[in-house]
Amino acid sequence: MYREIELDNIDLTEEPPQEEPARQRYFIAKARKRLRAISERARRPMTFRIVTFGCQMNARDSEKLTGILAAIGYAPSDTEDADLVVYNTCTVRENANRKVYGHLGKLKRLKEANPYMRIALCGCMTQEAQVVDKLKESYRFVDLVFGTHNIFQFAQLVCQMLESDSMVVEVWEGTDQIVEDLPAQRKYPFKSGVNIMFGCNNFCSYCIVPYVRGRERSRSPQAILDEIQNLVNDGVVEVMLLGQNVNSYGKTLAQPLSFARLLSQAVEIPGLRRVRFMTSHPKDLSDELIQVMASSDKICRHLHLPMQSGSDRILEKMNRRYTKESYLRLADKIQTAMPDIALTTDIIVGFPGETEEDFQHTLDVVRQVRYSSAFTFQYSKRTGTPAAVMEEQVPADVVQERFNRLLETVQDIAREECARWEGTTGQVLVEQVNHQDDALLTGRLGNNLLVHFPADRALIGKIVDVRLNECKGFYYMGEISDGNITNDAAILENKRIL
Ligand code: SAH
Ligand code: SF4
Ligand code: F3S
Repeated sequence: MYREIELDNIDLTEEPPQEEPARQRYFIAKARKRLRAISERARRPMTFRIVTFGCQMNARDSEKLTGILAAIGYAPSDTEDADLVVYNTCTVRENANRKVYGHLGKLKRLKEANPYMRIALCGCMTQEAQVVDKLKESYRFVDLVFGTHNIFQFAQLVCQMLESDSMVVEVWEGTDQIVEDLPAQRKYPFKSGVNIMFGCNNFCSYCIVPYVRGRERSRSPQAILDEIQNLVNDGVVEVMLLGQNVNSYGKTLAQPLSFARLLSQAVEIPGLRRVRFMTSHPKDLSDELIQVMASSDKICRHLHLPMQSGSDRILEKMNRRYTKESYLRLADKIQTAMPDIALTTDIIVGFPGETEEDFQHTLDVVRQVRYSSAFTFQYSKRTGTPAAVMEEQVPADVVQERFNRLLETVQDIAREECARWEGTTGQVLVEQVNHQDDALLTGRLGNNLLVHFPADRALIGKIVDVRLNECKGFYYMGEISDGNITNDAAILENKRIL
């Protein structure tokens, strides 16, 4: 759809179309022309670099930004010494935010040495009014600022930026628009994230995401399934369905459809080998979903089930809408239905008012559920959220001490859980050459564990059987198993179906 010839055929003497995505396609063509002229003047190609902070949503958004910049004619750069640097930011915790300001200082010096250099900032941080004020006041060297709701306008904004000498700022407060069919360029040829919904309606009292990502909006099932089919046609074997709370997918559609139904339709797509999803809110996880997961071997045996706290009192103040008891019952139900499943979680320590007794409940859940891994966070005050003005903020040294104890417990259990698979053979999606030793490849099991093993690079992007020889704490050293001959046959079989 984005072949250059089609872009060059767009008549730029006409007014830009009003409807999307035609409008953005027009601006891709316009920016392309403008960039070509700049390149000729500079006598070299113009380069870009996107730096992504935060979660899988931002990672997927960055692939969309990359697709647009590639269509405009920018060449990728491995360093921030590029002609366009885009920071796709996160603001979920204060230190995510601080990191961006730190990086910006360095970019300023690079920009002073390169007259062509432009700097753009987008993502969740720019949705906060005080951030935009600070940028306008103290970071005048930033050229473009836009938000999460109008990310689809990127081509138009790049155009504006290339034609302007002053900072272009376009941040929307919200939107109900979902623009389909814009280009995206994947980081990995063989796996991809697929947004199934945007925003969040849960308003957990500590969390800024609902304010910076807006209200929950589900994409139509057809748009999602078509995108997956197109990805599979393009060589993708694994997709990760993305949403802040995938379990409430489809509730607001004209024809409501549950997440479990969507998932069971996705696994039917021929050629697709693996499906994952993120994130599941425990309050909305249905029996239907457990049943769909248990009945398909294409759905990875991994479930991320954020617990946040094990104390009923804190869960209530967090507005999580489940209890320790109901969470434990749910985890047990999932583990009974799928004994080989890896459960992972997110935990916050030091939420306002958290006592040692509350914290003991959190440790108790960790010990009972036995997570394969857990992201542990120290509570971070986010301006504008209800928790930020709660009394009894926990002193930093107490938070740190609890955090250390939690981490130790989580890691001890994760090590034991990881070791459960020693000596077995598992299916691994081969992702890349090992970073430390280029004689090894690195791949991922369905349960999300990493495995390193010696093999030919030609296997990257394939799913192969690997024997898990030695558990090294949180990952495995393995070797290719003989079963792969049949496996390759299965891959060929899938190709034939297509
Ligand atoms: N939608 C996902 C989480 C997105 S944010 C869910 O509900 O599971 C990822 C994680 O960041 C959260 O699960 C939470 O553990 C953590 N987090 C969010 N806000 C935070 C804050 N103010 N301080 C510390 N951790 C926070
Ligand atoms: Fe934040 Fe809660 Fe929404 Fe997750 S579900 S994004 S933690 S408000
Ligand atoms: Fe961060 Fe935004 Fe994701 S705040 S965690 S990048 S939704």
